[in-house]
Amino acid sequence: MSSLLTETVCVVTGAGGGLGRAYAKLFASEGARVVVNDLGGARDGSADGPSAAQTVVDEIVAAGGQAVADTSDVASADGAARVIQTAIDSFGDVHVLVNNAGILRDKTLLKLDEEAFDAVMRVHVKSTFFCTQAFAKHRVAKGGGGRIVNTSSVSGMLGNFGQANYAAAKAAIYGFTRTASIELQKHRITVNCIAPIAKTRMTENLPMFANIESLTPEHVAPAVLFLVSELSGEKTGWVLAAAGARMYAFRVVETAGRFKEETGGIWTPSEIAEHWDSIVKI
Ligand code: NAI
Repeated sequence: MSSLLTETVCVVTGAGGGLGRAYAKLFASEGARVVVNDLGGARDGSADGPSAAQTVVDEIVAAGGQAVADTSDVASADGAARVIQTAIDSFGDVHVLVNNAGILRDKTLLKLDEEAFDAVMRVHVKSTFFCTQAFAKHRVAKGGGGRIVNTSSVSGMLGNFGQANYAAAKAAIYGFTRTASIELQKHRITVNCIAPIAKTRMTENLPMFANIESLTPEHVAPAVLFLVSELSGEKTGWVLAAAGARMYAFRVVETAGRFKEETGGIWTPSEIAEHWDSIVKI
């Protein structure tokens, strides 16, 4: 067992399968004590057996690691408070939070209804807010320090056909991460995003994953481990992306733009049309 996370208590939400399971197992193999959260729901957020989290805990313990299961719904304020409290009750403290829980309700924009929009926003965005706040309040009360990784996606950063609700949620998590990284910097809490691509139950029926075995959760997990370990130092507000062998990043670009000297600097729409290329040039 190596030791990047010795003396570290980690909470991973939605860790009963897929990416979260890979993070939890890797963290435990690095010496972390891990709270494996998952309400054990189906891919679309409907109910299922509650045993997903315990199964992962059993795997970690069998490999010689330390973990406890938590089945809270982290998209509720109570559930988020409970998962943080589970860490404190079980292991005395909490130092790392990975907001990973998620669901899909894919529909093209013209067919998307309010229920599918709200369900996706609730699980992704509210869980990130509630868990981050509960975690950060605890860390600040402890004198600061800590690491948070939120989960955005290519869909949120670039858009994707059929995912208006999911892309809105993942872009919201990007904005949330940027603001949290700024506000929590003075408390020495880093807040970054992972934008993963991996074959999981969430993606396995997409055509691009059909015959691909090289995009695994185990390819993504080291990127998240990097972000929650001391190796990432004071890096905060970043979106690290991992897809199979490719490690990259998303960065929002502000162009230098163009200044207008005349008429008090007020542009006309036709001048914007005329100068479009120099306004958007990087
Ligand atoms: P997954 O469906 O295997 O894992 C998500 C887990 O979250 C499930 O085990 C589910 O039971 C749990 N969950 C759902 N709602 C919950 C709630 N309210 N409270 C507690 N747990 C809850 O899917 P996967 O692929 O591992 O996704 C993990 C994260 O990565 C998600 O946020 C997803 O949006 C994101 N992601 C995944 C990509 C991929 O290629 N697999 C691409 C981009 C982002």
